[in-house]
Amino acid sequence: MNQIQVNISQAASQEAIQAQAEAARKALATVDQATGAGNDFLGWVNLPSTIAPELVEDICKTAADLRDKCDYVVAIGIGGSYLGAKAVIEALSDSFAAYRNEHTKTKVVFAGQNIGEDYLFELMRLLDDKKFGIIVISKSGTTTEPAIAFRLLKDMLEKKLGKAKAAERIVAITDAKKGALRQLATEEGYKTFVIDDNVGGRFSVLTPVGLLPIAVAGYDIKALLQGAQEMEAVTRDDSQANPSLVYAEARNALYQAGKKIEILVNYCPKLHYFGEWWKQLYGESEGKDGKGIFPAAVDFSTDLHSMGQWIQEGERTIFETVISLEKQEHEVLIPLDNANLDGLNYIAGKRIDQVNKMAELGTRIAHVDGGVPNIQITLPALREEYLGQLIYFFEKACGISGYMLGVNPFNQPGVEAYKRNMFALLEKPGYEKETAAIKARL
Ligand code: PA5
Repeated sequence: MNQIQVNISQAASQEAIQAQAEAARKALATVDQATGAGNDFLGWVNLPSTIAPELVEDICKTAADLRDKCDYVVAIGIGGSYLGAKAVIEALSDSFAAYRNEHTKTKVVFAGQNIGEDYLFELMRLLDDKKFGIIVISKSGTTTEPAIAFRLLKDMLEKKLGKAKAAERIVAITDAKKGALRQLATEEGYKTFVIDDNVGGRFSVLTPVGLLPIAVAGYDIKALLQGAQEMEAVTRDDSQANPSLVYAEARNALYQAGKKIEILVNYCPKLHYFGEWWKQLYGESEGKDGKGIFPAAVDFSTDLHSMGQWIQEGERTIFETVISLEKQEHEVLIPLDNANLDGLNYIAGKRIDQVNKMAELGTRIAHVDGGVPNIQITLPALREEYLGQLIYFFEKACGISGYMLGVNPFNQPGVEAYKRNMFALLEKPGYEKETAAIKARL
């Protein structure tokens, strides 16, 4: 089996890694045996191997129906109800898909992941003369950002088609019973999918939350699940053959040695949103109780021209985890130029990817020499199966790593603070006391 690989030889000494082995094995058992804090949120652990084939078929059928009816499908959601689908679709898409006139392909666009007035205006202007549908995703069913976007787009669709026809192009993904979205979906008769109680938002990409938008975008969700299932099997092992265990050991060894910031690096622009997904996964899981590695993400070589100086010579509290993509899908050679004014003839005839690989290798050596330890994750190619492996690998490592750190990796109490203030400032009914208190501070 071709599989993602983790190389920690440039990360920390054998002894430092060895010192984490016992804690890592215990943390793995805590995840697998569901004996730790937050153990009611472990539904993602066996999800790839237990997902019902009928559910996968239903997702594929619903996606085909939306593709049939719509040129654009707006996936509405935020955080864990957005980032996984966005990451996978971006990784698999043609970089210029938005500018290509492929009338046969349904495009997935996103909303509800911000409160940008111009963003929503421009989205509605785009959709005005288009056949569009909506997938509205909210586990709680009460999140403000997607609720605003859904209110606007639902209204627009109903004005275009009438309530009944609009309902045929709306799919809701939410809790089985609770929340405003469940109630609305029942009242309006939308097709729905359930987000199980035991899967937290940031671990939900392999549920209908991620799978439906990915399938609508035209990608193979069965291969994605297959890859995740392969990784699920591999990461049950409590030896060094388990890549999630090895990654968790290395990053905890580095954290204890004072490396408080981890940058997830890619050398492929299509992986930008994978970094965004990973930041949420690790940031929300580990950043609590005054602890946690700060997860940041950079796109190289682009960001070597902005963040490179800091990474090479700034405060030595940083380490990097590089997603090293082995194979590009296309081949482009650098042409010979007789004038050679740019001095590039020494690389004429080489593939662009050879240059990128040397940028990667040269950077790794420079960073390790400069005191930035390196973890390398090799991804064979940007295909559904490998992305499924990578997703599950990071999820499992996150559970292990959080328990090693001594936190509950499956809650996110801190996310509520901004919401309370926003509701108080907007004078939401029920927040009268908070409104008075916050206004007194302004
Ligand atoms: O990980 C989480 O729980 C959060 O980031 C949520 O995914 C995010 O707030 C969206 O929540 P919901 O799906 O309930 O609208």
